[in-house]
Amino acid sequence: MRTRSTILLTAALGCMMAGLVFAQSGEKKSAAKPAEKKEESKTPKGNALRGRSLFEEQCSICHFTASPAKKIGPGLKAIYRNGKFSSGKKVDDPSMRAWIENGGVDMPAFKESLTAQQIADLIAFLRTL
Ligand code: HEC
Repeated sequence: MRTRSTILLTAALGCMMAGLVFAQSGEKKSAAKPAEKKEESKTPKGNALRGRSLFEEQCSICHFTASPAKKIGPGLKAIYRNGKFSSGKKVDDPSMRAWIENGGVDMPAFKESLTAQQIADLIAFLRTL
């Protein structure tokens, strides 16, 4: 009788210990998450897929992407690889962002209608052309 209850007691203790360890590791994981999220929202990272559908909505009436031919504005194929705007200005993320925000002579400005995240998405898409 005595040995049996000792075994039961040991087993019960073992379960409690395991439960404690489990609970502690769970706490640690959930505490680390909010910090990661903050990092992400600081710099909007472009998503080329979202940029592609935005381009379809906002830009494709005036621009081809599969060819450098002119539609209403110039074709944007390989604009990043070529590295230059028609004006001769260097293409990089800041100059592209400024261009989309301010527009051109016949191109509308998008500063008011697109968020920083949406412009980052468009830039990520333009990089793939
Ligand atoms: C109403 C037509 C129109 C729309 C809409 C439009 N563009 Fe344009 N875009 C133009 C025209 C026209 C130019 C030629 C430069 C100018 O107007 O001064 C141009 C020029 C550009 C250039 C410079 C190309 C070069 O080789 O110099 C880029 C990049 C560009 N547009 C991107 C975009 C993006 C991205 C969008 C969508 C957010 C967009 N455009 C929407 C008409 C448009």
